[in-house]
Amino acid sequence: MHKDLKEVLLSQAELDAGVKRLAQRISADYAGRCVTLVGVLKGCVLFMSDLAKNITLDTRLDFTMLSSYSGEHSTGVVRILLDLKESIEDCDVLIVEDIVDSGLTMDYLLQNLKTRRPRSLEICTLLDKPSRRKAEVPIKYTGFQIPDKFVVGYGLDYNGIYRNLPYIGVLKESAIEGNKTCR
Ligand code: IMP
Ligand code: MG
Repeated sequence: MHKDLKEVLLSQAELDAGVKRLAQRISADYAGRCVTLVGVLKGCVLFMSDLAKNITLDTRLDFTMLSSYSGEHSTGVVRILLDLKESIEDCDVLIVEDIVDSGLTMDYLLQNLKTRRPRSLEICTLLDKPSRRKAEVPIKYTGFQIPDKFVVGYGLDYNGIYRNLPYIGVLKESAIEGNKTCR
């Protein structure tokens, strides 16, 4: 385990099993269709890669990048930093997100993508922290519900660090207080 973590919340094996479960459900639900995965950068990267590899449908990958977050707390102000490359009109779209916390980011993205007239639009999140919800968002696919703890790894970061960890763990207070950076 990384020295800045106080516990591992989800091991590599648990993540692997959870992601495969989601991919199986998605492959069954969209059978015979082509699905467009819209990943929310950068947190989606490891999850989306493993999810896509286990989906047995024709699949397109596209990405968006939003900003709503700085450090440990959500600011609630959402901006689009990078928009989709392709049109999603008449497509079956599945948003792929690392974690839904306050729900403000997802609420904004859902409303924004709806205006582009997709055939269907659903949310797939690896993690759900329901205790901190401020905006109700309809999540169709959830990997794991987690308690109100700040977690890193498998795409999730603190100050841009720890995304590459192959498991998800809870950050020590000392790493947060030390405001660790990569420089
Ligand atoms: P929301 O708008 O509050 O739902 O925040 C969603 C975004 O906040 C996620 O996509 C993450 O990037 C970030 N986030 C929320 N909770 C955590 C956490 O525990 N660790 C790392 N990032 C988090
Ligand atoms: Mg994110």
